[in-house]
Amino acid sequence: MRSASARRSLRGVDVYLAVVSKREVRDYAPRAIEPAAERRILEAGRLAGSSKNRQARRFVVVRDESVREAVASCVYAADNVRGSALVVAIVVGPKGPTAFDAGRAAQNMMLAASNDGIGSCPNGIAEAARLREALEHGEDEQVATVLTFGYPSKPRRDPQSLPAEEWVRRANRRPYEEIVTEI
Ligand SMILES: Cc1cc2nc3c(=O)[nH]c(=O)nc-3n(C[C@H](O)[C@H](O)[C@H](O)COP(=O)(O)O)c2cc1C
Repeated sequence: MRSASARRSLRGVDVYLAVVSKREVRDYAPRAIEPAAERRILEAGRLAGSSKNRQARRFVVVRDESVREAVASCVYAADNVRGSALVVAIVVGPKGPTAFDAGRAAQNMMLAASNDGIGSCPNGIAEAARLREALEHGEDEQVATVLTFGYPSKPRRDPQSLPAEEWVRRANRRPYEEIVTEI
């Protein structure tokens, strides 16, 4: 008997549908993420492209409870870290474009998670110096974002229950004409 996420993966969610139906998760269920799903998330980040294929980024998985609490106290929304099943800090090296490369890895990870029914959220850093101490990263590195992952506390609508156009219509986003211009 296959799990719901395995069945969904086998059916294969259309990539465009996966992208336009993805929303951040605000609350997580107290449920662990299976090691194979965790690995898929991290591999999706590792395989993201980067400038000159430098791959000047690494992912720190926070396992230790006291480090996790320290990380929680360094982001803007501590409870998003405290309530999650998996915490991954994206640490970038000194040579750019680090923000762009980190963003590509982050979105890859969040979409891979979503494909397994796992929610995610990026967390901005409020206290970078303290976070550096907690994660023991180099002076020439910085944390681009702290990603949290977990199964949603409330079941999410199946991406395939609506056509992509409807996900697009319902999204809380600035209008297309405002974002996309031609010259
Ligand atoms: C607790 C929490 C903290 C967040 N912190 C950040 C952040 O620091 N930086 C960021 O780019 N997005 C952050 N986000 C995500 C944005 O709020 C989110 O991408 C945006 O509101 C769109 O959400 P939606 O996809 O659910 O519509 C955070 C979300 C939550 C729930």
